[in-house]
Amino acid sequence: MRIGIPKNTGADDPLVAGTPETVARLTALGYGVVVERGAGLGSAIPDAAYEEKGATLGSVEEAWGADVVLQTDYPPTQYLDLMHEGAVLLARMNPGGNEERIRELANRRITGLALDAIPRTSRAQSMDVKSSMQNISGYRAVIEAAARFGRQFTGQVTAAGKMPPATVYVIGAGVAGLAAIGTANSMGAIVKATDVRREAAEQVQSMGAEFVEIPVQQESTTGYAKAMSDSEAQAAGEVYAREASRADIVITTAQIPGKQAPILLDDAALAAMQPGRVVVDLAASTGGNTTQTVAGKAITTDNGVTIIGYEDLARRLPGQASQLFGQNLVNFFKLATPNKDGELTLNMDDEIVRTITVNLGEQIMWPPPPIQVSAQPARPAPAPAAQGAPGQPEAAQAPEQQGRSWKFWLFSGLAAAVVLWIMFTAPVSMRGHFTVFMLACVVGFYVITAVTHALHTPLMSVTNAISGIIVVGALAQIAYGPVLVMILAFIAIAVASINIFGGFLVTDRMLSMFRRS
Ligand code: NAI
Repeated sequence: MRIGIPKNTGADDPLVAGTPETVARLTALGYGVVVERGAGLGSAIPDAAYEEKGATLGSVEEAWGADVVLQTDYPPTQYLDLMHEGAVLLARMNPGGNEERIRELANRRITGLALDAIPRTSRAQSMDVKSSMQNISGYRAVIEAAARFGRQFTGQVTAAGKMPPATVYVIGAGVAGLAAIGTANSMGAIVKATDVRREAAEQVQSMGAEFVEIPVQQESTTGYAKAMSDSEAQAAGEVYAREASRADIVITTAQIPGKQAPILLDDAALAAMQPGRVVVDLAASTGGNTTQTVAGKAITTDNGVTIIGYEDLARRLPGQASQLFGQNLVNFFKLATPNKDGELTLNMDDEIVRTITVNLGEQIMWPPPPIQVSAQPARPAPAPAAQGAPGQPEAAQAPEQQGRSWKFWLFSGLAAAVVLWIMFTAPVSMRGHFTVFMLACVVGFYVITAVTHALHTPLMSVTNAISGIIVVGALAQIAYGPVLVMILAFIAIAVASINIFGGFLVTDRMLSMFRRS
């Protein structure tokens, strides 16, 4: 099959749905690829780079006339006229809000795959163009804010005096919000963030920011937030306004799928901000998170606050945006080309393929059946507060706990019997060593299980030291003892060495996670 990558149809749209690297991967899957001349220029990709990777350059008609056409966004009708019946179009379509697009494709018998409908499952993550673009937008939002803010982000102590770091407040810690937190943090700002989803708190903290609680917390089963009631919105709004009035930069990313973006900062909250402060509203395209956002523009309020409502933040980094978009598509083609024979296979039993297929030829497939997404699992219900509380049934896990404690006591009894047997049958000289060994096991168990996981690496340095002592002891024994002692000494050296070298290896891998490449 031939894949066509025409130039994006939006005026001055710098993105392109494939780069030379992704074209090479598509040809490796057996496809022929035709790229419209000049398609990559907005992303600084010359035609020759595509040709080098095995693509054919073609006219607008040739690219749109391919069997499978890749676009970042749903194209105007005149381009659909260039497609042939039975062809497949992959693009962002916003199918939920544009059913007429689905009907149009079905009337033309062009199969439509909506890339913005990729489900939020772990398996689909590598194909999720929405996440890729949000990630870039979050980064760019901080860069735009920094360009408008009249001071630097990082704090400094200079001969001329002390400069405090900028404070950044992020409302909505989803994909874009987390990217913004990471960027602002790495630029030296003090970052705070809020989200309505409970599970976001941990993610915010792991990015080095402070999580600001709001009085409304939602358990998300879809990965997305739900709209708040008026009273909830008012209570949360007080927190947003308080934090915004203290912040230098506010980045808002809150969206509710299929709905207007919620208003987080009203006129009063904006009026309470200091002059020169900057708000970047990433929800501008769905109505905006402030009452004064103007989509596509940066405006200054009466009190001197800049509100940036750009809708094209990902497009402001076109090279990376095109690369990630193209790579997301390659990952989809890997799934849909199981035999690597250049034949697109739309298996409707696969939930990813099924979910994004809005129509199969003339058959309309939207909306897809609901699927279980990879949102944080709901927290288990808290255990009953008191035994026999009225109306409280017996805890469901009680029989399991009983089973576990029965096994626990059996195991403990057997272990105690073995210890006693060794104590009474071992030579007197060994009893002292054995007692020390047993105490070391008990103390070690409690020390290790009480240490938080994040500190296990430093803990391993201590076990390395212990392993070192074991190796020295075993080396002293290996050449002199009877055969059994030699064998045991050899095993001790081998096991302790695994611990030592494994410890260094794991520590090195962990440290490399924090190294800047
Ligand atoms: P989004 O763009 O719909 O919303 C942005 C953020 O704003 C969300 O975190 C949302 O909880 C928050 N928000 C909405 N209303 C709010 C309010 N009134 N106050 C405060 N915060 C509010 O969401 P996004 O960024 O697309 O994804 C949200 C989550 O979905 C991610 O953090 C992730 O856990 C999950 N996800 C899973 C994927 C997968 O498994 N393939 C892919 C992408 C995201």
